Amino acid sequence: MSIAKSQVKLQALAALASLALLTPLLVAAALLWKLFCKLFCCSSPRSIVGDVAVVTGAGHGLGRAIALELADKGCHIAVVDINMTGAESTVKQIHERAKVRAKAYKADVSNYLELVELNSQVVSDLGPVTVLINNAGIMLHRNAVDPEPAEVQQMINVNLAAHFWTKMVFLPTMKTLRRGYLVSISSLAGLFPMPYNTTYSATKAGTTAHMRALRIELTLEKQRDIHVCTAMPTFLEANEDVVQLSHQIKIADLFPLISAQSAARRIVDGMLKGEREIMLPELSALLHRLITLMPVSWQDRSTILCTGSRFKQYIALRN
Ligand SMILES: NC(=O)c1ccc[n+]([C@@H]2O[C@H](COP(=O)([O-])OP(=O)(O)OC[C@H]3O[C@@H](n4cnc5c(N)ncnc54)[C@H](O)[C@@H]3O)[C@@H](O)[C@H]2O)c1
Repeated sequence: MSIAKSQVKLQALAALASLALLTPLLVAAALLWKLFCKLFCCSSPRSIVGDVAVVTGAGHGLGRAIALELADKGCHIAVVDINMTGAESTVKQIHERAKVRAKAYKADVSNYLELVELNSQVVSDLGPVTVLINNAGIMLHRNAVDPEPAEVQQMINVNLAAHFWTKMVFLPTMKTLRRGYLVSISSLAGLFPMPYNTTYSATKAGTTAHMRALRIELTLEKQRDIHVCTAMPTFLEANEDVVQLSHQIKIADLFPLISAQSAARRIVDGMLKGEREIMLPELSALLHRLITLMPVSWQDRSTILCTGSRFKQYIALRN
């Protein structure tokens, strides 16, 4: 047997042994930590009554559901979208169920100058912003296999770059007030690779990394009352194209679809409890930890094993 082959065998054995040893340890440690937090940590939700929240992409889907959830908690809401019909409809729904102020704003989150203008309008209409929900996102390219460069760039601008522009515009006020919440809607696709949607996977992984680094910055700056939370949901019952696709490729057999309302409730509750990352379904957090213990070649193979045929179907349908 060649040296290279026996090295591969040794590596595989070492990986198996560490998986067998570490899995029960990791599960036990995670359970103990949860128990410790439940018993000793103050995790009672904070009040946001009277706070002003900017929710991007709130004219539809998850953004609308989060806007409604925040309104139920007493927040005044700036409903931001490029689609004003959707944004106005969200404002109407907020006014029907909560006694808070809400207003629709047209702004493209990928345009820094529009966000600067948005901030001054919201401050003068509703007050200083202390809750920022970075939700607006694009999920699918028209051509999954061979997207146009402009489409790829647009997804990067909206899903990734925009989170830098909103941070630059809204975070300084939170820093001055020494309190606030910043929530970015990422996706499980940033952790579990999504073939033929590489731009999406990359933008969501980038957003998760962005928020992790920002959290450390704020800790170093002793901004203990600015909470940064990243939400990473699986497929949702929100965007119609994504719902249709998930049924066509039967992805719901692997990860059942979650309603936008229940995801929004979980995200807002987690945000108020100061949770740092929320993966939906919750079990995917453990699954991800276990998978990343494996060698990368195994991780690739298990993805192909579980999802390969579905994604072949996906490209057949999308092209
Ligand atoms: N739908 C899912 O299955 C799913 C799963 C995981 C994560 N997510 C993430 O959740 C977020 C919301 O997804 P959704 O399914 O509710 O989407 P959606 O398509 O239903 O709604 C997105 C909203 O964002 C708005 N928008 C798009 N580009 C914008 C821009 N440049 N500026 C301002 N507004 C803009 C749209 O007009 C729309 O109203 C996205 O970030 C998405 O990546 C969705």
